[in-house]
Amino acid sequence: MLKVAVLISGRGSNLQSLIDAAGEPGYPAKIVCVISNEPNAFGLERAKKAGIPAEVVNHRDFGKDREAFEKALDARINEYGAQLVALAGFMRLLTPWFVNRWMDRLINIHPSLLPAFPGIHVHQKVIDYGARWSGCTIHFVRAEMDCGPIIIQAAVPVMPDDTESSLAARVLESEHKIYPLAVRMIAEGRVNIHNERVFVSGAEMQTQSLLNPSGSSKT
Ligand code: GRF
Repeated sequence: MLKVAVLISGRGSNLQSLIDAAGEPGYPAKIVCVISNEPNAFGLERAKKAGIPAEVVNHRDFGKDREAFEKALDARINEYGAQLVALAGFMRLLTPWFVNRWMDRLINIHPSLLPAFPGIHVHQKVIDYGARWSGCTIHFVRAEMDCGPIIIQAAVPVMPDDTESSLAARVLESEHKIYPLAVRMIAEGRVNIHNERVFVSGAEMQTQSLLNPSGSSKT
């Protein structure tokens, strides 16, 4: 069983997808702790309900000292013996100190097809740009924001009448599929990084190209 620490800042719907997956028979990973930097994060309730230790490490207690905050975080994670750290809506930028400490054992979910649309307000930027596809990405974390070797992506179509919230909801549905899948593949020891590219052994790859719009209808 791979021991996973999940770091959150809010709602925790991706955490929930991991909790649900971990509850399935034969799932090869176990969530050993959930840590939030925000005391009121709803995800903490989800963890408690599932009987998972839930803790707050509030960054505000450390002033501007990011490394002191991360050292506290790191100490808690190690206390639970975590082997993998999964960021799930964790809204603090991590310093190179933490990233290096958890190199290749730290993953993140981002709600776009990286390297397109890093950062925040992603869905509005996708709509404003007129992109026909968006999606979500699970990647290993590197020091630059929303960068690092990609493990899995899901592509989601963008509709002409999409709003930020309708697109976010469509992407979120896929997020909840790919995060448990990525953690499963890592736990099964099938994920390898070579020259900053991820190779997944035994993976079935998509062979289809999809068009959006998929054609035109004559009226
Ligand atoms: C998700 O869209 C995730 O991709 C992004 O932040 C959001 C967190 O949602 N990094 P939740 O807290 O998991 O519901």
